Amino acid sequence: MSLADCRIIQLPKIVNSSGNLTFIETARHVPFEVKRVYYLYDVPGGAVRGGHAHRQLQQLIVAISGSFDVLLGDGSQRQRFHLNRSYYGLYVCPMIWRELDNFSSGAVCLVLASELYDESDYYRDYTDFQNALKGQQK
Ligand code: TYD
Repeated sequence: MSLADCRIIQLPKIVNSSGNLTFIETARHVPFEVKRVYYLYDVPGGAVRGGHAHRQLQQLIVAISGSFDVLLGDGSQRQRFHLNRSYYGLYVCPMIWRELDNFSSGAVCLVLASELYDESDYYRDYTDFQNALKGQQK
């Protein structure tokens, strides 16, 4: 798993003069079975979220409202994604360090997750994450 496995997934958009509609069907649009949904909101200006990686967890991150940046890193490369459309999801595979910042006022970050919340799935220390990556290469 590397940064190359992370990608933007375009979601359907039903355009209507009374308002647009986007839907997500797990089998069609999400490359994993969704076990949990959570969302970030009321994020103060200048705040940074994330700052961790996951051993197993896969996620699809959607800027449901407003915008924010997602910075991904696999230990050798880093890539910044600016999410500002409700019909784009960013797929994040396991073993990717992520930071979310540059939240606009009123931004809502929806996350579809492949596993239930499990603190033992987190790398919260960057050095631990780097060591785990080195262990994988052996
Ligand atoms: P965390 O994943 O660190 O948030 P972020 O990556 O957005 O900065 O989680 C923040 C806190 O919320 C932490 O104490 C764990 C808790 N939490 C849950 O209890 N359940 C969940 O599904 C999530 C995502 C977090």
